Amino acid sequence: MTDAKTAFEIRLRQSAAETGALLSSLLSDTPLSDETTRPAHLMAAMRHGSLNGGKRLRPFLVRESAALLGGPADAALRVGVALECLHCYSLIHDDLPAMDDDDLRRGQPTVHKAFDEATAILAGDSLLTYAFDIIAAPETMLADRLKTELVLALARAAGPGGMAGGQALDLAAEKSPPDEAGITILQAMKTGALLRFACEAGAIIAGSEPEHRERLRLFGQKIGLAFQLADDLLDLTSDAATMGKATGKDAGRGKGTLVALHGITWAEGRLDVLTKEAIELLAPYGEKASILQETARFIASREN
Ligand code: IPE
Ligand code: IPE
Ligand code: MG
Ligand code: MG
Ligand code: MG
Repeated sequence: MTDAKTAFEIRLRQSAAETGALLSSLLSDTPLSDETTRPAHLMAAMRHGSLNGGKRLRPFLVRESAALLGGPADAALRVGVALECLHCYSLIHDDLPAMDDDDLRRGQPTVHKAFDEATAILAGDSLLTYAFDIIAAPETMLADRLKTELVLALARAAGPGGMAGGQALDLAAEKSPPDEAGITILQAMKTGALLRFACEAGAIIAGSEPEHRERLRLFGQKIGLAFQLADDLLDLTSDAATMGKATGKDAGRGKGTLVALHGITWAEGRLDVLTKEAIELLAPYGEKASILQETARFIASREN
């Protein structure tokens, strides 16, 4: 257990460094072919919102799920970086005054604080668009058929029936509190969809049979729900210094969370059940799945 945990931590740290390095090179001021110029202040805002720490959990999941099924590692890294760009866009927009109105993210001023609101909106737009560029670009060495599948799956996960739709439901929930089923749907969309995509992407990259994709999809769904449950618990139990973002805000804003509905003890129990179910889903892969299973444990026990 301790060994598995240590191996996991080393691997996550290593993966985060590789993700950051590729992301940094992709966010240079030098325009790509068919681009005109890259405005320096826009690029600086994009870098501020994405090269600022972060656990890099989504790229890690893409890479580890691809590795589990024998997919090419270099393509998995690029798809992971694309997903991280999209995730960072979601955070930049989530922090805007019109949404959660937060000043601190990953221990630094949010993009609209460090720059201005218009620049934050455009930095988010650009990171979102760039995610699809990175997948489609010739440097991502995958068959066109697989790239199309990735683009479609990511668009569905991020769009109106996925993350963006979930954010709309999250804001609506501040005005009219949903019941447990409503909260579960909202969270499966706003947070779960991208984590589910991260796991499913590995199966797409590896060109796996549908049964593997389905299994990873279910795993992604479980850890997605667990992830937001842990985030909502930490909002109540942790502090800004540990989290790198403001805490204690969900209750004040009337956010629809299961912690608000059922309390901390219930939420901790539910987190435990979701983690066990996620781990069990990968049992057929045996020892090969131990890193992904450790990731599920990490999500439930993380401190930031
Ligand atoms: C924060 O995601 C937003 C939620 C979905 C709750 P992370 O906790 O993965 O944030 P970073 O990327 O590590 O900063
Ligand atoms: C954000 O959920 C989910 C997305 C950004 C899509 P939260 O609003 O709870 O995330 P934090 O707590 O600000 O990171
Ligand atoms: Mg939010
Ligand atoms: Mg927020
Ligand atoms: Mg939160």
